[in-house]
Amino acid sequence: MFQSKARSLRRLLRCKHAAVSKASCSRLVLGIETSCDDTGAAVMDGSGAILGESLHSQKEVHLRTGGIIPTVAQQLHRENIQRVVQEALDRSGVAPAELSAVATTVKPGLALSLAVGLEFSRRFVRRHNKPFIPIHHMEAHALTVRMLHAVPFPFLVLLVSGGHSLLAVARGVDDFLLLGRTLDEAPGDTLDKVARRLSLRKHPRCATLSGGQAIELLAKDGDRRRFGFRTPMGQTPDCCFSFAGLRNQVTMLIKKTEAEEGKKVLLPAGTHKPAVVSASVTCAGVEEGTLLSQVSDIAAATQHTVASHLAKRTHRAVLFCKANGLLPEDTPTLVLSGGVASNQYIRRALLIIAEATGLRLLCPPARFCTDNGPMIAWNGVERLREGRGILPPGVDVSYEPRAALGLDLTAEVRAAAIRVPSIRMKIPD
Ligand code: KG4
Ligand code: ZN
Repeated sequence: MFQSKARSLRRLLRCKHAAVSKASCSRLVLGIETSCDDTGAAVMDGSGAILGESLHSQKEVHLRTGGIIPTVAQQLHRENIQRVVQEALDRSGVAPAELSAVATTVKPGLALSLAVGLEFSRRFVRRHNKPFIPIHHMEAHALTVRMLHAVPFPFLVLLVSGGHSLLAVARGVDDFLLLGRTLDEAPGDTLDKVARRLSLRKHPRCATLSGGQAIELLAKDGDRRRFGFRTPMGQTPDCCFSFAGLRNQVTMLIKKTEAEEGKKVLLPAGTHKPAVVSASVTCAGVEEGTLLSQVSDIAAATQHTVASHLAKRTHRAVLFCKANGLLPEDTPTLVLSGGVASNQYIRRALLIIAEATGLRLLCPPARFCTDNGPMIAWNGVERLREGRGILPPGVDVSYEPRAALGLDLTAEVRAAAIRVPSIRMKIPD
């Protein structure tokens, strides 16, 4: 009894310092995320203060199996969701009866993963008779920054993750203009696949890292100029992205390097001493799966090309926004979010564009860039404040594995065919 009173007092004191009304501050939202391979939950008050959170990452399991197997992801969500939600509630000291609403990711994402979060939430809101707020995962990534900084609408946002690459203008909680999207795979997916092809899990410093994290770590010791990859879509004057061609270029280089390193190993003793190559060698080269001695250079060149591609498309998006008055003249802002936005090299590339075009760049810290419970709770808080998309407990909601973001302006951007002045992407290491 005393403990719960003390917690309420702490909440009230926190609210006194926040620039929101006491009424909205006392609204408490439980956020639940299961769209991909993280089971996340958080309890948040109306000012955006995280009262309690919990996260279970499936990363290590999927690294072992060489990618996300949807049935395995679903099973792991099932095994963990009850505990993760209970932990978030326990840490917050908030009882289900005190919640104002439950917000849960229902789109886009892996069908089997979304189903677990939605099913759990439907039972939870019915049992406790609470309103339900369905959340769009990419909208939540886009607005996470507002949990941390006072960023007014509208702002430009680049969302880069394992499943998406999007450029959009965020004009309101559920009001987005889509300027660009990927035509094939997402940058996180590309980095994960390159890391797998390079067998980075065998690298002593990368065993527990996601593909993107492993590439970033190794790239620090690499020479990005040793291998030159073509930046994608140089002749296409729009804001869309493509990463499949780059992955193909990297795969070809890896094959060539495997063949060359094999020859070096076969040289007579004393002529050459291989640094990392240790697995079996055939006349055709080292076997696929062997750690190459040039792995850091390949990582650095791949990361640089991804960063340059993202920066160039974003540069055009800024110019399109300026030409069409889509951003405020006073402190126009570029936000970078999503798992790949944790990458410091990519952040520095985007900073070059922001500085050249007079925009302020904001990126949430890495733990709020990758999937997490607070970003979903925050989206619930924002929707609750605006009274947008709040459903009664009994209403039937379905999940949507594919879901567009906002009003599609990609054809208009393409028709504008804006030429982007060349900027030297001299990204500091
Ligand atoms: O947003 P997120 O957690 O999940 C999705 O919604 O996809 O993003 C996960 C992706 C993975 O592909 C992972 O390799 C990538 O984000 N990632 C990174 C970094 N940290 C995570 N990519 C580049 N550099 C990083 N430091
Ligand atoms: Zn995500």
